[in-house]
Amino acid sequence: MTDQLTPIDRAKYAAAHCAADFVQDGMRVGLGTGSTAAWLVRRLGQRVREDGLRIIAVPTSTRTAQLGREVGINIVSLDEARWLDLTIDGADEFDSELTLIKGGGGALLQEKIVATASDQMVVITDAAKEVKTLGAFPLPVEVVPFGWQATKVLVEEILASMDVMGRQSSLRMNGDQPFVTDEGNYILDLALGRIGNPRQLSLVLNQVPGVVENGLFVDIADQVVIGHADGRCEMRDLTTGSPETSFAQVNLREATNIFSDL
Ligand code: A5P
Repeated sequence: MTDQLTPIDRAKYAAAHCAADFVQDGMRVGLGTGSTAAWLVRRLGQRVREDGLRIIAVPTSTRTAQLGREVGINIVSLDEARWLDLTIDGADEFDSELTLIKGGGGALLQEKIVATASDQMVVITDAAKEVKTLGAFPLPVEVVPFGWQATKVLVEEILASMDVMGRQSSLRMNGDQPFVTDEGNYILDLALGRIGNPRQLSLVLNQVPGVVENGLFVDIADQVVIGHADGRCEMRDLTTGSPETSFAQVNLREATNIFSDL
């Protein structure tokens, strides 16, 4: 069954499987969105069903909520959970300081709220998403639909004074209609090429009227679990004074019962 997966999918699975071991009985857990996070949700569902793991979980999108319920996880709202022990989520790019670009799946707003309301955030990823400098992946910015074209002009104007390479933005589409987020907003994808100062850019973007949130996660993630196609995981922890790296191995063959279509 694992032979049917691409090397990238095996790597994503390995990362999710390793990170699922961070979840302990009684925890309140934030569940990310995207294909890597979906592996995590399935693995946690397996632990709930087969090992009696007791958790409550807050999803970061309607599709994660649906998957979580399908696999038997107790899904609650963030307001019900109030605060979380741990959030595990994917990313589109990450650098050595664990600054992230997120929102490729359109869930950046709930993802940022949930991750920020957690004691700890763990990023699950394949190795291809690690970059020296962020920005090759277009930066998603969530904007309110009202006056979005004026917001787009303002965003492009402020980019002129930022340490970035490009300043083109495009409205994310879903067929011939704008893509609409779970919160009813639109997304502008910024083709920046290179982001020299993510912290500054994040702060400045959020000052533009009409911008709800941007996909830069600065000082939010604590650890990254990097999966490889052969089942190896590399875990980097930035919470200690000097970053620590450890390794684990996932037996991909043991997990065939959760390798079904997502
Ligand atoms: C969802 O909005 C994103 O932030 C995802 O976490 C990110 O796009 C990673 O997705 P994959 O795990 O599918 O690569």
